[in-house]
Amino acid sequence: MNQQPVIFAHRGASGTHPENTMAAFKAAAEKGADGIELDVQMTRDGEIVIIHDETVNRTTNGKGAIEKMTAGEVAALDAGGWFSAAFSGEKIPTLNEFFRWASENTLQINVELKTNKVPYHGIEKKVLDLIEHYNMRGRVIISSFNFDSIKRVIELDPYIAVAGLVWKIRRDALVKAKDLGLTALHTQTSFALSEYGKEAIKHGMLLRLYTINEVKEWNRINESGVPVEAIITDFPERFR
Ligand code: G3P
Ligand code: CA
Repeated sequence: MNQQPVIFAHRGASGTHPENTMAAFKAAAEKGADGIELDVQMTRDGEIVIIHDETVNRTTNGKGAIEKMTAGEVAALDAGGWFSAAFSGEKIPTLNEFFRWASENTLQINVELKTNKVPYHGIEKKVLDLIEHYNMRGRVIISSFNFDSIKRVIELDPYIAVAGLVWKIRRDALVKAKDLGLTALHTQTSFALSEYGKEAIKHGMLLRLYTINEVKEWNRINESGVPVEAIITDFPERFR
């Protein structure tokens, strides 16, 4: 079997650039990624911002929880210097700013709603409104580990592409995905190669795998014969 997966850059080209910054997203496009995966959280005043953690502590020069900060406070932070001095001055992008850039290219976009730790009331609607505003609905997939959040997205927009996120080999996640009638799971190699991976495929679900950084791992999946629609990687250039 020789599959050609769709390649999503995980948090942008985060192996070589500071994750979830415009520098990482632009680098992903330059490296030939088909798509970009990014994480969103929401500020106290309702701005959707692109950052993986619930706090700014790990990836900026500041401290604090996003839910307690204003968009202005988040915008003032340096989100590149922690990775390398060469990227000092990079900012935490807003989803609005990202879509403005992405609407001028043809990349697929995977927006992960980080609602599994902080519920961020209303985030689903705000993300859908931005997708609509930038006319991006044909090329966006919304994913989340929080299946209640996915459910809210489906209720608000039954036609937008959604995917359930599964960490490791979780039967309960597969059951929830079936209950919601999901047609895609973003999951790990261990799940894909397990009996649950096969069960998901039998139920018509596409599998997209994270985080595949080693060609060796991809070869193992490929040789297993399990169909994988896409991989999500920190190093898109390795798979191009
Ligand atoms: O969307 C796949 C992957 O990004 C989920 O895990 O922690 O990297 O957001 P995490
Ligand atoms: Ca993610």
